[in-house]
Amino acid sequence: MKVQIKATGQACGAVIEGVDLSEPLHAEQVRAIREAWLENLVLSFPGQQLSDDDLERFSQYFGPFGDDPFIAPVAGRKHIIAVQRKADETAPVFAESWHTDWSFQAVPPDGTCLYSLIVPPKGGDTLFANQHLALQQMPDSLRQRIAERCGIHTAKAAYAPDGAYGEQDQASDRSMDIRPSSEAVATQLHPLIRKHPETGKPALFGCLGYILGVDGMADDEAFELLAELHTWQTREEFQYRHRWEPGTLLMWDNRSVLHMATGGYDGHDRLLHRTTIAGSRF
Ligand code: SIN
Repeated sequence: MKVQIKATGQACGAVIEGVDLSEPLHAEQVRAIREAWLENLVLSFPGQQLSDDDLERFSQYFGPFGDDPFIAPVAGRKHIIAVQRKADETAPVFAESWHTDWSFQAVPPDGTCLYSLIVPPKGGDTLFANQHLALQQMPDSLRQRIAERCGIHTAKAAYAPDGAYGEQDQASDRSMDIRPSSEAVATQLHPLIRKHPETGKPALFGCLGYILGVDGMADDEAFELLAELHTWQTREEFQYRHRWEPGTLLMWDNRSVLHMATGGYDGHDRLLHRTTIAGSRF
């Protein structure tokens, strides 16, 4: 059966049908999915029944596994992490702020795959923001202030011992196996405007959170600029809201979108398995 692609009608995203991801894919199917991914930035594959082997096989059609720091993999796997929250958990929702996965790495992951195993009856949507569109529609005055500038990316605010998932969080009832480390303070420069290495389309790359400074700019001025940029790049008109059903695989392009988790499901379990697709080029 031919891969069927239906755009969501929102700022990005498409639903893919006509393909069973529990079976090996033909080269033609992989080609069609890659093309749809580059065009739509976020793809959802509803109605799948995937094992961890299936999830790993699917990810590897699009590149080798990325390196997932600070979160322990699930038992028996090196490249799958569990994004989970228990019904009675009181720790803050994981990743409930805009980010691009592991943007503090020298070559951040091209993509992420997230497969839903347990989905709450309400809440727990994942939001995406199209960073090509955000750049395209950006006022010139703001664009000029970020042109040719590099963001200082770091995992410090999240995964350092005094970060959001640091020692204090370790004392909470969080069910995810997060491993904070002093290595999180390392920094990495990336341009704030980056050409997508495959499509050549320019996009904003990363945002305040993993970006904590602008190279060559005083901290106060940089923070003000990054905060203004964050407000712009996450505007509702650039967003796609993904509402989960169990058995859905989602894959997104970290070079093109920001994403964030949302809460609103206290009293219900949520469990997804995640792989990252390594960065090929920067
Ligand atoms: C993530 O950032 O990988 C988690 C997204 C989610 O839990 O919805």
